[in-house]
Amino acid sequence: MKVAGSVGLVTGGGGGLGAGVARMLVDNGGHAVVLDLESSPAAAFATSTPNVTFIPTNVADPEQVRSAVEQTISDKGRIDLCVNAAGISPAQRVVDRKGSIHSLDVFEKTIDVNLVGAFDVIRNVAGAMSKNPPGEDGERGLIVNVSSAAGLEGQAGQAAYTASKGALIALTLQLARDLSIHGIRVMTVAPGIMDTPMLAGIDDERRAALVDLHVFPKRLGTPADFAHLVKCFMEVTLLNGEVVRLDAATRL
Ligand SMILES: NC(=O)c1ccc[n+]([C@@H]2O[C@H](COP(=O)([O-])OP(=O)(O)OC[C@H]3O[C@@H](n4cnc5c(N)ncnc54)[C@H](O)[C@@H]3O)[C@@H](O)[C@H]2O)c1
Repeated sequence: MKVAGSVGLVTGGGGGLGAGVARMLVDNGGHAVVLDLESSPAAAFATSTPNVTFIPTNVADPEQVRSAVEQTISDKGRIDLCVNAAGISPAQRVVDRKGSIHSLDVFEKTIDVNLVGAFDVIRNVAGAMSKNPPGEDGERGLIVNVSSAAGLEGQAGQAAYTASKGALIALTLQLARDLSIHGIRVMTVAPGIMDTPMLAGIDDERRAALVDLHVFPKRLGTPADFAHLVKCFMEVTLLNGEVVRLDAATRL
């Protein structure tokens, strides 16, 4: 798949990794349609960046997702790439040091946004992609899910996040098999520690400790690193059904 002329739908594209992908698309002659919360910086991003369109969408609301995908098809005619970067990462121990147990509401909300929301976007977008005329190798589209190193290894204080991200990993090969009959590929990225608004608020000492977790290179990942990987996925048609760690060899 060529980036030039492509249409990419990016959830959570108002900032961080998703915005990196939107920028990569427009810098290389593509178009980005960003689905993010009304309260996110997505509107300002779209206004200041040519060829980026914002459709306010809560991915956990099925009616909003259906309508956003329909609007994208009606405005742009097709969706070639879908990147599911919308996500939340609440921190809570299953039983904390004071003996309080994990909120079930927080667990359910995290699954609802990170997993059910992603699946809802996938099913709607894949339905639309299946109508694309086939390109190179009979390809009709590419779906990229954003998991996490936590989805592979678990992370203390992140039961809900780990469950949601692990499920996206489990789905990768399954989705690639299901969607193969339509020429749609599915890839998942499991980032380590990326310098995005998700890390906002941490102090310098904590940041240095996070950098130190990366074996080599000793720096946090960036939205540009992530976007470059997505570009590779687009261009190398043989990549399918795989989870790629983007983590400088870190282990949590
Ligand atoms: N930053 C990291 O270190 C890191 C590591 C591993 C995985 N990830 C994953 O990468 C993805 C992108 O995160 P990021 O680091 O760019 O953080 P981010 O907070 O900048 O981006 C997440 C985006 O998702 C949006 N969002 C949240 N809930 C939503 C909802 N219900 N509907 C629509 N949009 C919603 C937010 O508004 C935000 O723009 C997330 O799925 C995150 O779990 C991040």
